[in-house]
Amino acid sequence: MMMVPGPVACHPEVLKALAAQPLHPRDSQFVTIFRRVLQGLRGVFRAAECQPVLFNGGGLLAMEVALANFIEPKDHILIVNNGFFGEELVHVAKCYSRNVESLTAPIGERVPLEEIQVHLDSKPFQVLAVSHVDTGSGVKAQIHQLVQTAQNTDTLTIVDAVSSVGGEPLEQSQWGIDVCFASTQKAIAGPPGIALLMLSDGAMRRLDARKKPISSIYMNLKQWIRSMQSYEAEAVPRLVSTPATNLVAALSIALHLIQQEGLEQRIQRHHQNAQQLREGISSLGLKLVPKHSDYFADTITTIHSARHTTATKIVKHMLNQGVRIAPGLGQSREDLFRIGHMGNVTSKDVSVTLSALKKVLTTL
Ligand SMILES: Cc1ncc(COP(=O)(O)O)c(C=O)c1O
Repeated sequence: MMMVPGPVACHPEVLKALAAQPLHPRDSQFVTIFRRVLQGLRGVFRAAECQPVLFNGGGLLAMEVALANFIEPKDHILIVNNGFFGEELVHVAKCYSRNVESLTAPIGERVPLEEIQVHLDSKPFQVLAVSHVDTGSGVKAQIHQLVQTAQNTDTLTIVDAVSSVGGEPLEQSQWGIDVCFASTQKAIAGPPGIALLMLSDGAMRRLDARKKPISSIYMNLKQWIRSMQSYEAEAVPRLVSTPATNLVAALSIALHLIQQEGLEQRIQRHHQNAQQLREGISSLGLKLVPKHSDYFADTITTIHSARHTTATKIVKHMLNQGVRIAPGLGQSREDLFRIGHMGNVTSKDVSVTLSALKKVLTTL
C-alpha cells in the first residue's frame, strides 16, 4: 500500500489510459482531451481566469520554469523557506539572480507573517516564492495572508502547490496568487511525468514586460502559452515538443474523477483522513513535527522518529507490513518519517497504516 507523499496509487481507469496506443498530438480526439485537461486544471486550482500550462516533466521542472521566467538577473527575490522544498526554491532561484534572500523557519515552525512583512517593506522585491505544503517538514504555509502581504508591495507571488493542489484548500484566483506550479503524481492522483503551471493575468503581463528573453528554448513559457492557446482555439495546435499523450489522457481521467467526487468533498476527505491519522499517531505516543495545529497539512504528516530508532528502520519495518511510507529529507532524514495521505487514500488505508505502525513500534 502506498502511503508516501507521491507518487500515489492511480485509479484503474487512469491506468487504462496509460496502456492505450499513443494518440497523435494533433489528432482531434487528443485535442479534445487536451482542452478538457486545461479546463479541468482551472477547476482544481480554482483559477477560472488563469492560463494553464502543461508539459512533460515533474515538479522540479515546473519550479525552475516558474523561477526562470519570472526572475530577471538583477531582481531581488525573497524565498519563504519552511523546509526542504523551501531550500530547493532557494537553490533554483540562485541560478537566475544574485539577489536571493531567504527567511528560514526551524523544522516544524513556519516563517511568521510579521517577519515576511518587515522584509518586504525593507526594499522592493520583484518575486516572493514559497511552498504551500512543504513535503519535507510537513508544514503548511499561510498562503492567503502571505499573498495579501506581498500584494501590498507589488511583489509577484510564486506558490509551489505540488503537495497541495487537489487535496488542500487552494483558491488561486480569490487569493490573488500570480503563479502556481505543481505536478500530477500527488493529490491530483495522476501518474508522474507532467509539469503544471497556472498563470494569472498579472503574471502574463509580467512575462510580456520582461526585458530580456530567457536563455532556454524548452523552458520558455511564452512558447508553451502559445501552444496551450492554440489547443484551446484552433483545430491544428502548435507544438513546442511532443506531449506525452498517454500521460495527458491519464491526467484527463484523474481530473474527471476529481470532478466526479467534487473538489470540496475531496478536500474534506483529505482533512478527515489527516485528522484520523494525527489522532492515531498521538495515541501511539509519537510526536508530530509541525509545532502548531495551524501548520498541519492534510496531504502529508511528518512524525518524529521514536527516541530509540531511526526513520530508515521504521520505513523498512513498515514495508515488511506491506505499507510504504517515507523517511525524512535532507538533514532530517533519520529524525522524522513521513506518511502521505493524498490522492485516493481512504479512511481504511489510514487505519491499516496505524495498525501496521503500532506493530512496528512494538517490535523495534
Ligand atoms: C513541495 C514539492 N515541490 C517540488 C517537488 C519536486 O517534484 P518532482 O519530484 O515531481 O520533480 C516536490 C516533490 O516531492 C515537492 O514535494
